[in-house]
Amino acid sequence: MCGIVGYVGKENALTKIINGLEALEYRGYDSAGIAYLWNGKVEIIKKEGRIETLKKEIDFSLSPTISIGHTRWATHGKPIERNAHPHHCGKFTIVHNGIIENYLELKKELTGKGYQMISDTDTEVACALLDAIYQEEKDVLKTIQRASEKLKGSYALGIICEDTPDTLYATRKSSPLIVATVEDDKFIASDVPAILQYTNQYYLLDDEDIAVLKEDSLTFYQAGEQISKERLVFEGNLESAQKEGYPHFMLKEIYEQPNVIEKTIQFYFDGTKESLFQRLPDLSKYETIHIVACGSAYHTGLVAKTWIEEIAEIPVLCEIASEYRYQKVFYTPTTLVIVISQSGETADTLACLRKANQEGMDTLAIVNVVGSSIAREAKEVLYIKAGYEIAVATTKAYSAQIAVLSLLTLKLALIHNKISEKSFERFKRQLSSLPDAMRTVLKNPKYKEIAEKIYEREDIFYLGRKMDYAIGMEGALKLKEISYINCVAYAAGELKHGTISLVTEKTPVIGVITDPFIKEKTISNLKETAARGAYVIVVSNEKIEEAEECIEIPNFHPLLQPLLTILPLQLLAYEIAKKRGCDIDKPRNLAKSVTVE
Ligand code: G6P
Repeated sequence: MCGIVGYVGKENALTKIINGLEALEYRGYDSAGIAYLWNGKVEIIKKEGRIETLKKEIDFSLSPTISIGHTRWATHGKPIERNAHPHHCGKFTIVHNGIIENYLELKKELTGKGYQMISDTDTEVACALLDAIYQEEKDVLKTIQRASEKLKGSYALGIICEDTPDTLYATRKSSPLIVATVEDDKFIASDVPAILQYTNQYYLLDDEDIAVLKEDSLTFYQAGEQISKERLVFEGNLESAQKEGYPHFMLKEIYEQPNVIEKTIQFYFDGTKESLFQRLPDLSKYETIHIVACGSAYHTGLVAKTWIEEIAEIPVLCEIASEYRYQKVFYTPTTLVIVISQSGETADTLACLRKANQEGMDTLAIVNVVGSSIAREAKEVLYIKAGYEIAVATTKAYSAQIAVLSLLTLKLALIHNKISEKSFERFKRQLSSLPDAMRTVLKNPKYKEIAEKIYEREDIFYLGRKMDYAIGMEGALKLKEISYINCVAYAAGELKHGTISLVTEKTPVIGVITDPFIKEKTISNLKETAARGAYVIVVSNEKIEEAEECIEIPNFHPLLQPLLTILPLQLLAYEIAKKRGCDIDKPRNLAKSVTVE
């Protein structure tokens, strides 16, 4: 959700900013811009579209030593040059990630003071606010502090002021921002990849911290007082952020899944029940569980809901975070709130975590990004071991979340004596063959063949029941995210109540059937669509004769099955998007980390 990079130091700031922005392009890519100080004056270059387009406009033979840059995911105002960042007003130039909620009110106040806004953005208003306060304060640090008190909403800001040409400022509230230093080079960035080619060490700003960066110094302030901050080390490396010969990050990440799952599971479970009791939090007191997340993470929650209810026999409320945060929620002292997030920064999920924390609930986060806001604010955190995920459409983080949820379910079932020794042993045994089974499923050439047949369709339906429905939802989301085909997942029994009217000759209907207890029911629903001309494709752990195409996957323990079922759906989405010539790693209108409401 918008990428910010800032640099001050001895070297060519333009190169540093562009390198950094390229590494952050997954955060938003509808327009980009850069500002630098040259001969005491601020120069701004902005372009609609990708960073590549911006790059062509930059004269790299100049070598300014201070600069800020931005890659945008539009919130206020269309993705056009006028609305692209950086924004400039008076003495100030800024880049921003987040949403200033009271910008209309501030805009009125500032236009009353004579400021004229040329963009439709909330960012320009924040920039004018800084300039207006500075007129009184004549001190940038105090100005930023006072502006923070007036700005409502979320922001990460990179700031330069013409009166202090050797200094870069940064502050944040509810939007991530890091600071790094490599000798005389000082950086700010929305996320670690922007600095990884220089260092893997960084400082994480906390809400309302202000960082003051100069070539020879780095200071942090909180509420006007100078503070010291702990230096963090990023676990991954630059290689993990490269394609390693794959045409797309998404494909690379799909193929990483067997290893990721092995690593994630081994971290929490060594085959003994004791390891589950030692390495996972104590879950014995919980009588209800709430699971809250967005997007694919929400879909993993739906899988876990089925598991926890059916295997551990504990009721689960699984809710979309943007709903849960404004809902009347019924907590009891024995409710556990689980939030799931790859990035650990999703604004709605973070808000739900805060809501539960404020109510005094026990909160547990399942997160990929170490040190992210959600990881830091939850009472307990379980990291998935997915490694760095770059493709906007998640695959390996989704699976690693499923793996952790599977272990949590297993532990709950053991606590409540709901799982037989036989079933536990089957889980254990199949766990060791799971990575190879996944590799075999990934190799199936059928996905390409099916993609060839259906890639030109404009409507595709996914049907399943219970856990299979939840997996169908993820399959449909993958496909629509990257191929722009309108696809919807339906609870198999519900399609006939309206949506079946959309099924016509050769409409692809993809059935997910792995649960033996409701298999026949879903098959009947698929037949209903076939009778209306649908082209029925099934992903199943047994041969389904009734389907025109059956993608067979191995039959595994229910707590492991989804890790196999999802693979054909991910690859089908990938192959279809590829045939349609889509920009697979950076689909239109999307962003990987959604730090706004
Ligand atoms: C965005 C991403 C999705 C992701 C969702 C939740 O929409 O494009 O892939 O599932 O956010 O993100 P989180 O980081 O909280 O898992």
